[in-house]
Amino acid sequence: MSGVLAGRRVLISAGPTYEDIDPVRFLGNRSSGKMGFALAAAAVGRGASVVLVAGPTALVTPGRVRRIDVRSAAQMREAVLSALPADIYLGAAAVADYTPRVTAGEKIKKSGEGMVLELVPTADILAEVAAHPQRPGLVVGFAAETGNLEHYARGKLEAKRLDMIAANLVGVPGSGFESDHNALSVYWQDGQRQLGPTAKTRLAGELLDLVAERLS
Ligand code: C5P
Repeated sequence: MSGVLAGRRVLISAGPTYEDIDPVRFLGNRSSGKMGFALAAAAVGRGASVVLVAGPTALVTPGRVRRIDVRSAAQMREAVLSALPADIYLGAAAVADYTPRVTAGEKIKKSGEGMVLELVPTADILAEVAAHPQRPGLVVGFAAETGNLEHYARGKLEAKRLDMIAANLVGVPGSGFESDHNALSVYWQDGQRQLGPTAKTRLAGELLDLVAERLS
């Protein structure tokens, strides 16, 4: 296979995670998985062999992509770490930051009183991949923010020891979660680039070309 990522192994996480409260309820988020799936298709198109770890989404698997379906943050962590080694990790999933301390075995009945749900933090998959003995050559994170894009994105780049972070504004029409379009501000240690606004499929290609550039 030819292309800027020929012979490279690319591991991608995509979509939301669902944290079960009981057999019928869960905590989720508004990630559609579209960006991660578009990245998988674009990576295959550039010659990479691609493993896509996907949270719950109805999206169709792009051709020649090996897809592993998961539900919770804990399952996503397990699947991602088991899929190492890789040359590139793209952490595009919106992983839950908190999960219920216990998942009830039976449907929780309403009592007429208020109720408190106890949550505990999940593991940070991206930070673990970046600190892993089999750390990929390039570890890329995503940051969805409602403001102060560069400040928060560079903070995460540093704190999680990433090589690159792609940040986007959420809460603005025509961008971010659920949309087919997006714009990304990409930051690395000594540089930055603005991509889009454009279709997520096209944005994915532009981001991967940048990733390939940084890898070489
Ligand atoms: O800190 P924040 O959650 O905004 O960072 C977003 C980045 O971290 C995304 O790339 C996301 O996939 C990753 N992440 C993760 N595991 C978590 C939380 C976030 O891999 N538990």
